[in-house]
Amino acid sequence: MDIEIIRNPNPAEKPADEGKLGFGRVFTDHMFVMDWNKGTGWHDAKIVPFGNLSLHPASTVLHYGSEIFEGLKAYRQANGKIVLFRPQENIARINRSAIRMGLPELDPDFALEALKKLVALDADWVPHGEGTSLYIRPFMFGDDEHLGVHGSRHVRYVVILSPSGSYYAAGINPVDIMIEDADVRAVRGGTGEAKCGGNYGASVRAGERAEERGYAQVLWLDGVERKYIEEVGSMNIMFKINGKICTPALNGSILPGITRKSILELLRSQGIEAEERKISLDELTAAAENGTLDEAWGCGTAAVVSPVGRLAIGEKIYTINGGKIGPVTQKLYDELTGIQWGKRDDPFGWIVPVV
Ligand code: PLP
Ligand code: COI
Repeated sequence: MDIEIIRNPNPAEKPADEGKLGFGRVFTDHMFVMDWNKGTGWHDAKIVPFGNLSLHPASTVLHYGSEIFEGLKAYRQANGKIVLFRPQENIARINRSAIRMGLPELDPDFALEALKKLVALDADWVPHGEGTSLYIRPFMFGDDEHLGVHGSRHVRYVVILSPSGSYYAAGINPVDIMIEDADVRAVRGGTGEAKCGGNYGASVRAGERAEERGYAQVLWLDGVERKYIEEVGSMNIMFKINGKICTPALNGSILPGITRKSILELLRSQGIEAEERKISLDELTAAAENGTLDEAWGCGTAAVVSPVGRLAIGEKIYTINGGKIGPVTQKLYDELTGIQWGKRDDPFGWIVPVV
């Protein structure tokens, strides 16, 4: 399929101060759009000027939440090259999310070509500063003009781009998180391992409550027993307990993070053991109490590697590693961003040049 390109005749001003970008507020000049009909399949792939989408008020997405999305980044490397980080993994995940939500799968090669073309066209928007990147947000939604609950017969796939700095206002500085013991995010058999909008909509209440108490995000427990650690609102979680690195095993309700996977592969390539297993709240509390919770960090595309400075469990607040970034967290941040920013070799072949 060809991709028609309609250039934006009125390109926007680029942000003057990249230090103030924050996350997800500024958008580039173009977006990718493509339609799908049952019968015809995907068609009308276009890059068009960035702008509003027009939706019928009965569109499936507005009533029944038929929506999935992805998040990945383009980086401007030290040598000026613009690259993507493991985009094939995001495309594979959006296709798994599509299957779960009854939406159509993308052709992986075409989806990658579309991402590269769009980023190449808006390449001037990839920021230059340390720690900045172009956040890429592909999403897909059903827009049938019909109120019946059924598989979508008309679907749109869109990709937008947003030059971004840190996800958290704190940057690489430690973030504070609290255990959420009332709401749950996901259960096995539900949509936890799909990246669908509904998971995030349902998490907003807990996130707001955490923010009111001064925490950046919540740490979710499993939805059945509320006994085991799952993940944070927008990142997976890892701990160093008594000298050993561990992270909750993927169980169907946790999002299989690409940053998580990359960190595990990085550690194992260096002969460092990293356990994927059930981690109970009791174990975590005991480790925080007896001083063996050496480090905790979240990992995700938007959040990169974010040290956890304070962890609230009920009324008790535990400070981890003196509230400072720990050595393992720092090493992982340096190694991962080193590969992404082209400051280190990429022995894994994770980097995909845009042109
Ligand atoms: N968990 C949740 C709920 C997320 O939203 C994200 C972000 O995408 C992650 C984990 C981390 O996934 P990834 O590393 O693929 O960005
Ligand atoms: C990401 O890390 O890409 C995310 O999707 C997190 C979030 C902003 C929902």
